[in-house]
Amino acid sequence: MTPPRTPAPEPSAAVRRAVKRHVWNEPRTFRAATALGLEPWLEEEIRTIVGDELGAVRTVPGATTFDAPFDVAFALLLRLSVADALHLRLAEVPADAFPMLRGRLDRVRFDLWLPAAPRLRVEVRSRRSRLRDEEGLRRTVVQAVRAAGVAATPPTGDGPEGRDATLRVTLDRDRAEVWLDAAGAPLHRRGDADRPVVPGSLRETTAAALARFGTPPDADRVIDPFCGSGTVLEEVAAHLDDRPVGARRRFALERSPVWREGRMRHERRRADGDRRMHAARFVGIDRDRSATDAARAALEASGADPDRFAWIVGDARDPEVARAAVGHAVRPALVTNPPYGRRVGRDADEADALLAAVLPRFSGASVALLYPRPDAVADLPGIVVEEVVRVRMRGLANAMIRGRIA
Ligand SMILES: C[S@@+](CC[C@H](N)C(=O)[O-])C[C@H]1O[C@@H](n2cnc3c(N)ncnc32)[C@H](O)[C@@H]1O
Repeated sequence: MTPPRTPAPEPSAAVRRAVKRHVWNEPRTFRAATALGLEPWLEEEIRTIVGDELGAVRTVPGATTFDAPFDVAFALLLRLSVADALHLRLAEVPADAFPMLRGRLDRVRFDLWLPAAPRLRVEVRSRRSRLRDEEGLRRTVVQAVRAAGVAATPPTGDGPEGRDATLRVTLDRDRAEVWLDAAGAPLHRRGDADRPVVPGSLRETTAAALARFGTPPDADRVIDPFCGSGTVLEEVAAHLDDRPVGARRRFALERSPVWREGRMRHERRRADGDRRMHAARFVGIDRDRSATDAARAALEASGADPDRFAWIVGDARDPEVARAAVGHAVRPALVTNPPYGRRVGRDADEADALLAAVLPRFSGASVALLYPRPDAVADLPGIVVEEVVRVRMRGLANAMIRGRIA
């Protein structure tokens, strides 16, 4: 977690004035990162959150770079559900040689962006550039930061809790870009405390993309027959309710002189005012009681209304369990991350057979799966596959599959 161990020191009046003049009212370049394959949802979210004020947008595998007024940082931090990180560009300078780089970095007002005495992490990546000595590059950046009056010290450990700010410096074709990490702990962490999870749990950002990809807006019951610790249902509920997923966590930018607490309060109030409560109810099934216990506990911490959720301990192949889950729903929707089977062969066949036994129990429902074998799903009798999107999760090929159960 990122929250400061001590309150951030108040910036000087001169820094405050300069922040107002040079940061708050200026456009900025942002970069949001996500898992490979989830870029379309990331870009769509950015367009929705920033609206008319969005400038140039460029999406590459794993990230979207875009121009927008600085102030949208607050809504982005609160609302981005598919992004793992949000960075703000502080500088873009030529970097043919160390003295030139140092000279250019000395003009950057790091004192406007960094707390007065941060534990600072500097990450460097150099490609297709003459300057490749990453240790030398890191030293040069730290020297420029100190020359700007920022008393930076090294981080105290590798985790986000051991630092107050992170700069990422990327060199490409002899140009250096300096980016400030606005989030701190990755954005898939929705709260400051660790979420209770079971083995095989999905990352929240992937669950959010599956929710956006596969939940019909008029669903009246959303069922996850393999709910594990409930990540998918929680993200579906946040999506349908339009609830900001970052409302329960802190951000590294809070320690920066550019932070506008009033602006963040305004965004939170606006989110509360806009709050709609979708009519859908949510049902999670898992045969493992410790999974549904973890799901219930995570949900209580999430701010969702627990009365809209039901957890069933049972085997999703059991027709009674499926009937209880569907109840009187008219437009049921399955959204789930089933067991995959780790090895191709027997494990995978078993996982395919489990889907073959479970999905027909929910005939008439829409279905969205995160599952690595879309062909096996398309071959199941009674399943109509409408769309497949390939994604990569923690380096492994996977797919989001959407369709109907006839
Ligand atoms: C891949 S995990 C789901 C993880 C979940 N998406 C999350 O993020 O926590 C699969 C879950 O399916 C459950 N499961 C496996 N076979 C089942 C069955 N026949 N009926 C119900 N649940 C089952 C397992 O107990 C496990 O919790």
